[in-house]
Amino acid sequence: PLKKLKDGLLSVTSPEELKDAADFDINKDKSTVTITVVGASGDLAKKKIFPALFALYYEDCLPEHFTIFGYARSKMTDAELRNMVSRTLTCRIDKRENCGEKMDQFLKRCFYHSGQYDSPDNFAELDMKLREHEGGRVSNRLFYLSIPPNIFIDAVRCASLSSSSTNGWTRVIVEKPFGRDSESSAALTKALKQYLEEDQIFRIDHYLGKELVENLSVLRFSNLIFEPLWSRQYIRNVQLIFSEDFGTEGRGGYFDNYGIIRDIMQNHLLQILALFAMETPVSLDAEDIRNEKVKVLRSMRPIQLENVVIGQYKSHTKGGVTYPAYTDDKTVPNDSLTPTFAAAALFIDNARWDGVPFLLKAGKALHNKRAEIRVQFRHVPGNLYNRNIGTDLDRATNELVIRVQPDEAIYLKINNKVPGLGMRLDRSNLNLHYAARYSKEIPDAYERLLLDAIEGERRLFIRSDELDAAWALFTPVLKELEEKKVIPEYYPYGSRGPVGSHYLAAKYNVRWG
Ligand code: NDP
Ligand code: BG6
Repeated sequence: PLKKLKDGLLSVTSPEELKDAADFDINKDKSTVTITVVGASGDLAKKKIFPALFALYYEDCLPEHFTIFGYARSKMTDAELRNMVSRTLTCRIDKRENCGEKMDQFLKRCFYHSGQYDSPDNFAELDMKLREHEGGRVSNRLFYLSIPPNIFIDAVRCASLSSSSTNGWTRVIVEKPFGRDSESSAALTKALKQYLEEDQIFRIDHYLGKELVENLSVLRFSNLIFEPLWSRQYIRNVQLIFSEDFGTEGRGGYFDNYGIIRDIMQNHLLQILALFAMETPVSLDAEDIRNEKVKVLRSMRPIQLENVVIGQYKSHTKGGVTYPAYTDDKTVPNDSLTPTFAAAALFIDNARWDGVPFLLKAGKALHNKRAEIRVQFRHVPGNLYNRNIGTDLDRATNELVIRVQPDEAIYLKINNKVPGLGMRLDRSNLNLHYAARYSKEIPDAYERLLLDAIEGERRLFIRSDELDAAWALFTPVLKELEEKKVIPEYYPYGSRGPVGSHYLAAKYNVRWG
């Protein structure tokens, strides 16, 4: 597919592409893109989707003829939708700039239609409105399902029956959760495929749209120094860490049915792991990358219960403020065993990663908010400096840290000599600190992903076989935890989480970074 670059140029190299480029230009005035946000009255739409669409508009990344429709059951006029949306838009691209005019132009392209999610008639009314806006042009339609999972299928059925495009493409972005185990996920995929082809389904994992997760492949495959080290021969362990310094406040109802393993580990962390550990893909094409990710996922050893630690946060008072326990949430049963924290040791049984522990940790209501990939390298064999100067082993070990958020950075811990006449070793960071290196703010993951969906780029979306492999890995251990009613280790709100996670790491000779 043709890529329209952000500066408005087309990236064209071959004669075929030149021909496509000509067609693209000819059709430019004849095609339109409509983005329908289904569930427009909801939290995700307000917080992420509309602001991301505005940022794309601001950066001139949206096609010339585009329209945005909000669709939900709540009664709202176009003006009310615009008012709601305007409250969440910011000039975040350049805080000094007054982007009020751009906002007004953007809001004029936003409309609303109220309807039920299971009503083909209501979607047919939407179709009429979409047609008016499309004005006879080739119509390309993107539906973003920002609704609870129990109504996904109804909405897909009605949208595909009554409001899919008749002369352009129709694509559907689906938000997680994609089921809660292998069985329910397969049922969801089967139901979606009654109405859509696989290439119309864009399963979102917003972590794949994060700048540093995207950069992982660039780091690995475009720098000579990393790829040769990327194996069991040099890497001692890999840690994937997600932590939030707030609880499930406001989302307890959803969360209690899923828990942290399904909410974060089975998707966000596992996706990063797959990108981290995959073999070099044949090309950057979506299918080539996803083929490699699936191979890694299918090479993973079944997760043993003894390699999993779960926790749940309890109330904690600090500085006169009392932070709630997970079960204080009114939508959570008092005796809930749902984990809000989990740590697990995973292994990939292939030639590259044999024996290397991949330690995953995810938790809510911890002492900080961060998402990081930490790669700890092996000790330097026969290290002269360990022998002669007696530095402890840890000091001699290199570590590469990819800080996905906040304050994005990639740094490599190296050992160096403290300047001076003596011979003392120190540990320093070679640091690519994004805020210092790049003045422009990093786009939100949803911007990247929405743009890709509009352009038909599937690289950062989850293919159904990837999803199957991810569930196949986690379903047995999730079932075991639930069937055995394993009691989570309780940890105070705002703490470092259960001590058990340190024992788990120690079992593999690892210290959490
Ligand atoms: P909401 O609970 O806010 O629901 C979105 C909209 O769906 C609501 O405004 C409501 O619109 C409609 N709705 C809610 N419950 C029902 C129901 N039981 N039956 C019919 N309609 C209902 O969801 P979010 O916006 O938080 O999330 C949307 C999707 O994205 C979900 O699948 C969620 O799991 C996922 N997600 C959300 C994240 C977040 O940060 N919020 C993060 C990652 C994923 P109306 O009543 O007007 O029809
Ligand atoms: C969502 C989870 O997928 O990711 C939430 O459902 C979590 O529980 C969120 O808070 C974290 O996303 P981010 O981009 O804020 O790190």
